[in-house]
Amino acid sequence: MAFPAAFIDELIQKNPIDDVVGQYVTLKRHGSNLFGLCPFHSEKTPSFSVVPDKGMFYCFGCQKGGGVINFIMEQESLDYADAVRFLAKRAGMTVPEDEGRSSTYQRQERLWKLNREAARYFHDALSGQNAEQVQSYIERRGLSKGTVTRFGLGFAPEGWTNLIDAMAKLGYQKQDLLDAGLAVKTEKGSIYDRFRNRLMFPIIDLRGNVIGFGGRVMDDSTPKYLNSPETIVFNKRKNLFALNIARKSKQGFLILTEGYMDAISLHQYGFDCAVASLGTSLTAEHVTLMAKYTDKVVLTYDADAAGQNATQRAIAILEKAGLQVKVLRVEGAKDPDEFLKKYGADRFRLLLERSENHVEYQLQRLKSQFDLSQDEGKVEYIKAAADLIATRNSSVEREVFGGRIAETAGISTDVVKHEINRAFQRLKAQQKKRQERIDLQPATEIQPRSRSIRYSNIRSAAAEEQLLRILVAEPSLFAKTSGLTGGMFSSPLLGRAFDHLNRLHLEGQAPSLSSMGEEFSPEEASHLSYVISKDIGPVKEKELMDCLQVIRSEYEKQQSQSVPDLLAARARYQRTKGMGG
Ligand code: GTP
Ligand code: MN
Repeated sequence: MAFPAAFIDELIQKNPIDDVVGQYVTLKRHGSNLFGLCPFHSEKTPSFSVVPDKGMFYCFGCQKGGGVINFIMEQESLDYADAVRFLAKRAGMTVPEDEGRSSTYQRQERLWKLNREAARYFHDALSGQNAEQVQSYIERRGLSKGTVTRFGLGFAPEGWTNLIDAMAKLGYQKQDLLDAGLAVKTEKGSIYDRFRNRLMFPIIDLRGNVIGFGGRVMDDSTPKYLNSPETIVFNKRKNLFALNIARKSKQGFLILTEGYMDAISLHQYGFDCAVASLGTSLTAEHVTLMAKYTDKVVLTYDADAAGQNATQRAIAILEKAGLQVKVLRVEGAKDPDEFLKKYGADRFRLLLERSENHVEYQLQRLKSQFDLSQDEGKVEYIKAAADLIATRNSSVEREVFGGRIAETAGISTDVVKHEINRAFQRLKAQQKKRQERIDLQPATEIQPRSRSIRYSNIRSAAAEEQLLRILVAEPSLFAKTSGLTGGMFSSPLLGRAFDHLNRLHLEGQAPSLSSMGEEFSPEEASHLSYVISKDIGPVKEKELMDCLQVIRSEYEKQQSQSVPDLLAARARYQRTKGMGG
């Protein structure tokens, strides 16, 4: 789908990148650039930069970059055309395209609307016919009226087509219900309601869209919970239950639970920062999402072995993202919901205050795994504990926990310290080796990370990069480049970028890469963004001439190569040219 260049130009003008990005990321000015915490990976110190002058962003941490369209593609998980539509809507512009063209975004919008209508239908059904059972279940679970309203809980009545019939009256088709995961298809091709005779929990994303449902049986039948399947609006790995409410909490931390019911109970008892994963284990994407709102997470999973194993996994993922992790163990109850009902909010608050730093928690767990009354058990325990403590970068922490291990095992502090030190040195040596492997030789410093766009001629590529930066900064210098074409560049990608800029310049538009997206893959856009964002200081014509000289001479050198080599190089250029869109 090609949009007119003038339209894209206006779209970019009306959606300044610092404005658009600023809606998702808190940006702070630093010279002529803006910096913030990257929305695409978890981090504690800002390595995400926006260069408003050039209309580009680039993250030095995860190497994602591009123009405002690329940003929306990544942030909202849209393809190029839908990102353009998204930005057009934001700026109140009309998209020049055929009416009725179906796009993923339009499809998503329809499913969001349908899900919202379904949520309303389920909610209304709570006070409709045959709702006695659900009413008494709600009462039995101690859910207040306020909680039911706040979470928009609902009821899917008994029957095969209740929802389908109600939605058909609103104009929704069979396919809509199937696509939203609200209906299931039989072998014969007819459809029936997925959720029947269940208490319904709508799942709402951060933009307030209903994206899916969880449905619980009201007796002991199975499956206990039925969740919406993955759809184009519902991704369990990327969403958390109740985060739409918890993100507004003033507590300064988030409480992560295993179950919907746990999160809901916590809210009802005044802990408005509780969230739950959607019946899946915690993912790095969940953590990235949480890291946007807090740097502290309290894990409170079920007390059983499964819950404690899940806690271990969650600690590792949260730690890796640099979040502070505490672990709250409910005692005398199987999960937070049960605990609150048995002991009340004050007791829970006490547990919260006393919740252990996750290192203490892990030490505690190790202790229970070894038989410390036996020498063998003691040795194994000390080894495992030393390995755990060695991962702490703070020497104070290593010291404190070392003392604790010695005490637990009944062994001298010196021996434990020695053991921790050895483990620490071993770890450092491993890290150093890994780092050395990552560090590239100086000559290849500018080499792109991605294999498919690697530079075959570093000398020429350096000149090509610099030439692009100069031209973007000073478009009048295009006049000096006559005769130069992208095909003469050693890097096919940089060559295509030159052609792109040159074309814009000839069309009388500002040569900028801020409208990238359609003809460059996200990977290519990221690299170009990195290249263009580099600061070059005052522009000198002399420098441009030097770059041109290098590019031309390297090109000539290559021209004198054998014919098969040339054909191969040409094929490479053609191939990458076709790859972008
Ligand atoms: P209650 O038992 O009503 O207190 O609910 P809970 O939220 O505490 O559930 P539980 O601790 O048993 O399970 C935790 C989470 O796992 C639930 O909230 C669901 O997201 C998910 N889950 C539980 N049972 C099932 C099931 O049978 N199928 C699926 N798909 N998910 C389930
Ligand atoms: Mn429960």
